[in-house]
Amino acid sequence: MTGAAPSTVGVLHPGAMGAAVAAQLGSRGHTVLWCSRGRSEQSRNRAVRAGLREVSALPEMLARCDAVLSVCPPAAAFDVARSVAEIGYGGVYVDANAVAPETMGRLAAVLTGAGITVVDGAIIGPPPGAVHTARLYLAGPTEPVGFLVGLLTGSRLEPVGLGETTGRASALKMAFASFQKASRVLAAVAHSLADEHDVTDALLGEADRMSGRILAQRDYLPSVAARAWRWEPEMQEIARTLDAAGLPTELAEAASAVLARWDADRDLAELPTDAVLARLRVP
Ligand SMILES: NC(=O)c1ccc[n+]([C@@H]2O[C@H](COP(=O)([O-])OP(=O)(O)OC[C@H]3O[C@@H](n4cnc5c(N)ncnc54)[C@H](OP(=O)(O)O)[C@@H]3O)[C@@H](O)[C@H]2O)c1
Repeated sequence: MTGAAPSTVGVLHPGAMGAAVAAQLGSRGHTVLWCSRGRSEQSRNRAVRAGLREVSALPEMLARCDAVLSVCPPAAAFDVARSVAEIGYGGVYVDANAVAPETMGRLAAVLTGAGITVVDGAIIGPPPGAVHTARLYLAGPTEPVGFLVGLLTGSRLEPVGLGETTGRASALKMAFASFQKASRVLAAVAHSLADEHDVTDALLGEADRMSGRILAQRDYLPSVAARAWRWEPEMQEIARTLDAAGLPTELAEAASAVLARWDADRDLAELPTDAVLARLRVP
């Protein structure tokens, strides 16, 4: 298998991300198939726009593919993998969904049990295209990962190998999304609270002055742990304010509970970051 040769790739299924991934594969000269059975008109329209070739049944698609990418709602990832395992398939199967490493492990066991080569994948970034780029992280056996990297090199979906251990790509996605998605939810709660008290313009002004690079500031975390004794009751005050406004208090309460794990680090801002982070783990 060489990355340079045009290959045939199946995408399960052409959603917002799957269709964009498929278009990137097409831009590198590969033939991309989609399976229309059971899919909606919206998926069909996306598939047509992305230049995919329609195959009506999954067995026919699998018989033609060198690689299949599963890009579907995370809750459907296991069933999609099982449907491929039940049919059998001789190419590489990539699960590129936002699933836990444990889910990835279960899914990989079903596929490898059917003799299928599995690669753990995770997509980070918006659907790639003229405006945006994204990364496809890949963890799995060297040869199929190399093949997949070859398929996408030069496209706007940058393939990035993460080594041979299945689960590493899924773990990266979980770590990234745990921050990215939770921070969006936190922003919604903060804005609802500001709206309730008619201070939204001032909140937006402060938001403009904030660092947007919180996840990048790993070395700042010891100072968070050192001040946890003070932030913990502050989070409880926030929970009271949210409650009074009829807003969800769970995130503030959960943050307060996490801060409590740093009780022993009070005012110790010089602790090593690794030690501070290790404190969050249940022994
Ligand atoms: N969108 C993003 O910006 C983004 C970014 C990073 C990663 N991702 C990852 O990409 C994956 C797909 O996201 P998406 O945004 O493309 O979702 P989406 O737009 O909702 O599309 C999901 C696709 O899967 C199909 N599908 C829905 N329910 C299914 C089921 N029960 N079984 C099998 N297929 C089903 C849909 O087909 P029908 O509608 O025809 O049923 C559709 O073609 C997720 O794992 C997500 O984490 C997305």
